Amino acid sequence: MNVQESYEGTIERVLFTEAEVAEAIGRLAQQIAADYRGKPLTLLGVLKGALYVAADLARAIGAVPDGPSEIVVDFLCVSSYGNSTRSSGEVRMLRDASEPVTGRNVLIVEDIVDNGLTLQYLRSLLGERNPASLRSCVLFDKPYHRLVDVPVEYVGLQSPDEFVVGYGLDYQELFRNLPYLAQLRPAVFQES
Ligand code: IMP
Repeated sequence: MNVQESYEGTIERVLFTEAEVAEAIGRLAQQIAADYRGKPLTLLGVLKGALYVAADLARAIGAVPDGPSEIVVDFLCVSSYGNSTRSSGEVRMLRDASEPVTGRNVLIVEDIVDNGLTLQYLRSLLGERNPASLRSCVLFDKPYHRLVDVPVEYVGLQSPDEFVVGYGLDYQELFRNLPYLAQLRPAVFQES
């Protein structure tokens, strides 16, 4: 049995298949490529959750004709959830971006936005570094429990009001490598 098969007993349902996720990435890439046409773009992925969305989006934008003049891919790493399914409300920077933000067209790439505190923290921090422009792109939006009204210029898919895993999203550091978005069986949370 491989890891993927061992996960299978823990999945309640698949919310978005691998093909649906790929389609959403393609749609986002078209919009972003058109909006940044002829301009340099810095994609700033938020680790660890955005590892796949940032990588897939960068390649998809690059494949659109007449898109940005150049694409820089960078990452920073923050922690907001600890090991539970509830946000601690406290965002910690674990590793900052390595490329310059000042004077660049920066697009923050996030896996999911829930209460909005992570994005708000990043927008305010990066905004102080005087980028030429600053926008956010999230693959999955959970708009049900926002604590702050943070702008999200590009949204891929609407997630149900559930704790979700896969395509970069984890529960206790597991399930990130699932190629689809899924809801876990309640027993998984009771066991841990
Ligand atoms: P926010 O600060 O509540 O908007 O949450 C942002 C971060 O919390 C995301 O980047 C994820 O890492 C994590 N997160 C939010 N919802 C989920 C979920 O349903 N599953 C896994 N991680 C989540």
